[in-house]
Amino acid sequence: MNVYDSERIGELLEASDMVAAKTSEDADVVILNTCHIREKAAEKVYSDIGRLKASKRKSGVKPVIVVAGCVAQAEGAEIARRAPTVDVVVGPQAYHRLPALLAAAQGGKAAVDTDMPLDPKFDALPARRRAVPPSAFLTVQEGCDKFCTFCVVPYTRGAEVSRPVADLIAEARSLVASGAREIVLLGQNVNAFHGTGGTGNAITLAGLIRELAALPGLARLRYMTSHPRDMDDALIAAHAEVPELMPYLHLPVQSGSTRILKAMNRAHTVDSYLATLDRLRAVRPDIALSGDFIVGFPGETDQDFADTVALVKRVGYAQAYSFKYSPRAGTPAATMENQVPEAVMEARLAELQEAISAGALAFNRASVGKQVDVLLERKGRRPGQLIGKSPWLQSVHVAAGDAVIGDIVRVELRDAQPNSLEGVVLAHARAA
Ligand code: 5AD
Ligand code: SF4
Repeated sequence: MNVYDSERIGELLEASDMVAAKTSEDADVVILNTCHIREKAAEKVYSDIGRLKASKRKSGVKPVIVVAGCVAQAEGAEIARRAPTVDVVVGPQAYHRLPALLAAAQGGKAAVDTDMPLDPKFDALPARRRAVPPSAFLTVQEGCDKFCTFCVVPYTRGAEVSRPVADLIAEARSLVASGAREIVLLGQNVNAFHGTGGTGNAITLAGLIRELAALPGLARLRYMTSHPRDMDDALIAAHAEVPELMPYLHLPVQSGSTRILKAMNRAHTVDSYLATLDRLRAVRPDIALSGDFIVGFPGETDQDFADTVALVKRVGYAQAYSFKYSPRAGTPAATMENQVPEAVMEARLAELQEAISAGALAFNRASVGKQVDVLLERKGRRPGQLIGKSPWLQSVHVAAGDAVIGDIVRVELRDAQPNSLEGVVLAHARAA
């Protein structure tokens, strides 16, 4: 979502007569769009500020430094106290006010805006999108009301809010007109999306997917991140019935121990999660799954962790992300007893990551020999090579021939690694 927000900030500033600089050394204004989810991400902003301060600049003039995003939201004016070179601090729900904040900061005192205004920021952003990649992001929902005990998102991004359907369709049209073949619908809890459809009817994410799938020129849809509790029947049915909806689902479970899930306030159990996967696989047997895992949540025992590894092996994730638990100030878990020692977390993370990569390699190997559609998204390292995505979000490297970025080509998969596959474009099979 920060990638999407950064793009929108770029568009907003271009509309205020600024142009993107090639490097941060050339820039008069540098914006750090930050993440607060784990301590490591949050601390990075201070090392980046230090690096900017020390960097040799052609102009010799210090750039205006803006800290945006969730670290800005969480720490507010404290950032400018700790790093006095910072000129503007702006939270993720207020960045549409950046032009005014940049003007205000010229007085020398840092301008801070961590409001969560009711006037929707999206209305204040330019309607016209810049050139977009073949796979483009579209934020449809922001914020979270789930309050998992480890997580800062409900505090930094605020309450769950869905954008109006008509605005989303207009933005999707604009993305397609600017070159997108695939749209990835984004939200902290994207499957909690709700709105009003074309005939005044109430719709959920499934309804939005069906409306967007009808847009001419849009070949693929994806969505993330979903919460297991909000996988409703309509969304599962969409996976069976909407050909544009790709057979891939990022559905974080966090732990394979129901005891730990309870302490995390996840509002689902391991069994209810597995039952959801069964419902999905019943209608879409080839669906690929991805997840997020936290190791070392307070009170996690060897047995709880073993249950997580067992769950990873049982589900057979196509890919998954795993993190050491990071205590975040203000969240209930940060003050829980039985915090797990760093060395234990390290060892558990290494073991879990091994199980995840073994699963990813097995998933990719099982694809070798298949013919799949690949959306070509970027250049590879070798001359003439392009890299694209299969329906199951696998990175596929091909010798592109006359195919170009943005084409969807039919590819035979020949070789697999844990994070990518090699394939051969089949003659005269361009699907675009
Ligand atoms: N510590 C470690 N990982 C976290 N996540 C969220 N909060 C924390 C935390 N305090 C992980 C979760 C979530 C992903 C985006 O980040 O797995 O799904
Ligand atoms: Fe954080 Fe996701 Fe839980 Fe919301 S549902 S509190 S974003 S982990």
